[in-house]
Amino acid sequence: MSNKPIGIFDSGLGGLTVLKEIEKILPHENIIYLGDTARVPYGNKSKATIVKFSTENILFLLQRKVKIIVVACNTASSLALDYLRGIFSVPIIGVIEAGARKAFQVSCNKRIAILGTRSTIASFSYERAIKEWDATITVYPKACPLFVPLVEEGITRGPIVSGVVRMYLNELKSKRVDTLILGCTHYPLLKKEIARCMRGVFIVDSAQEMAVHTKEILQERGILNQASKNGKKEFYVTDEPSGFSKLARLFLHRDIVKPKAITNV
Ligand code: DGL
Repeated sequence: MSNKPIGIFDSGLGGLTVLKEIEKILPHENIIYLGDTARVPYGNKSKATIVKFSTENILFLLQRKVKIIVVACNTASSLALDYLRGIFSVPIIGVIEAGARKAFQVSCNKRIAILGTRSTIASFSYERAIKEWDATITVYPKACPLFVPLVEEGITRGPIVSGVVRMYLNELKSKRVDTLILGCTHYPLLKKEIARCMRGVFIVDSAQEMAVHTKEILQERGILNQASKNGKKEFYVTDEPSGFSKLARLFLHRDIVKPKAITNV
């Protein structure tokens, strides 16, 4: 069981931020990554659609005999996780719980901002998870729909990014938050600009927290890969893979093996 791969899926390439963090702390794990590039973005789609896409993604990963499913996509974690856990017996973990826990742990003044896609914010998933830790925490959710297309275009700094960041975040400054959650796969790439705008605020990177959580779950279940060599990585996409390598470099800061295109998801 422990030699089996970890299955990660995302709406597209953004989940590579999660893969990167998992690789850092779990270098011996084999990983299969599925990016649903044919149907990205999920961030503005309905619950029914996201549940359907996520179910299909998991069915694909299960054919590859994964030992655990990591839902890297914040939108899918927000809208589909409960349903997916209800129908599959494989362990399935989502990004929300890990990010919410970290925010609860680091916030001193109990005022936490949450950034995410429209669907993530509308689902109240982070609020619910944070309030389970402490119901007295005040949350300030903010949908930032322009962040994903900016990152997808490789625009992660400079005047356009700082302008868009200010446009979304200025209203949060007066809220005196001391913690902010990057509740979307793409936002870690904008972390510098976001931190510059929100000086002194602790930024929770949900990708990093997800990696820590993945390790905890594998340890708990006794299915950590004990191999001494580095794990194998396989990449699959649901659309033509030509743009993948360029964007993957942006997310991972290295080249990856060419992804395989699949059409049966
Ligand atoms: N992966 C999505 C998320 O983390 C962002 C991209 C999309 O909208 O599909 O919410």
